[in-house]
Amino acid sequence: MSADTASLPPIAILGAGSMGGAIARGLSRSGLAAAGVTTTNRSIAKAAELAGLDGVTSVALEQNPAGNTDAAAAADVVLVGVKPAMVPDLLREIGPVLRPGTIVVSLAAGVTIATFEAILGEDVAVLRSMPNTPALVGRGVTGIAAGTHADADATAVVRRLFETVGTVVEVPEAQIDPLSTISGSGPAYFYLVVEEFTKAAIGKGFSSADARLMAEQTFIGAAALLEASGEDPAELRRRVTSPKGTTERAVAVLQDAHLDDTFARATDAALARAKELAAGA
Ligand SMILES: NC(=O)c1ccc[n+]([C@@H]2O[C@H](COP(=O)([O-])OP(=O)(O)OC[C@H]3O[C@@H](n4cnc5c(N)ncnc54)[C@H](OP(=O)(O)O)[C@@H]3O)[C@@H](O)[C@H]2O)c1
Repeated sequence: MSADTASLPPIAILGAGSMGGAIARGLSRSGLAAAGVTTTNRSIAKAAELAGLDGVTSVALEQNPAGNTDAAAAADVVLVGVKPAMVPDLLREIGPVLRPGTIVVSLAAGVTIATFEAILGEDVAVLRSMPNTPALVGRGVTGIAAGTHADADATAVVRRLFETVGTVVEVPEAQIDPLSTISGSGPAYFYLVVEEFTKAAIGKGFSSADARLMAEQTFIGAAALLEASGEDPAELRRRVTSPKGTTERAVAVLQDAHLDDTFARATDAALARAKELAAGA
């Protein structure tokens, strides 16, 4: 069995809503979580959404108030997927039951590794992650950063875990917020471009349905070609852009709009907001 296909150790996902739930689904689909995944949510309704996934035990705290501590005590890897403001309380709840060597992975935006380590102490390995929503369809990009006590083995386990829902980029913690402005927020940038391109098509007389189909499938097709060809995007662009042709005119207009500066300013704005949020604003 190669390292890439080796089974993952027992996993707990405490707070398995949109993001934690996406990871639970990815783990279930991958067949790599042979040692089992336990998810917790407060409500029975939320827990029901994950019930029945292969290899997943979905617990509702409404029915089992000790669900978090039971799951955390039994797991080698604990993912913390509650909202950022709820993280400290959850860590104080599970801290006493974690076994030495447990890997604790944060999904929470803006909560630092130092916060985790201050509450959990030195015997657990903490990593911070920043996934994105295409994880729902197994095409996520997840940044991971290792804490003070997380060695290469712990990082490798967490990498394999997130690879069940897409691609993983390892960065130092200081790069998690900058990464978030690209891959975390990135899906929204893409949807905005699809929306605007659809409007341009409607403006040219197409029905909304046809406009949306053309815009959406053009980008999805172009992305698939980018991936399948392995070519540089600039080279693929050149292949669509004949000298003195129609695309050349359109691209010139887009370049006149200073997209480089616009994207730099947009991601700078996201980074500034991440700093404000970390400061409690
Ligand atoms: N969504 C994203 O795109 C995204 C991207 C990157 C990072 N994140 C991070 O992921 C975390 C979760 O975000 P989300 O969008 O997935 O939120 P969400 O859908 O609201 O999920 C949070 C889940 O936690 C459960 N929960 C609340 N308190 C709990 C407790 N004490 N113990 C166990 N479970 C509890 C909630 O269950 P009930 O509803 O039953 O109360 C809910 O299902 C956040 O920290 C966020 O920063 C999200």
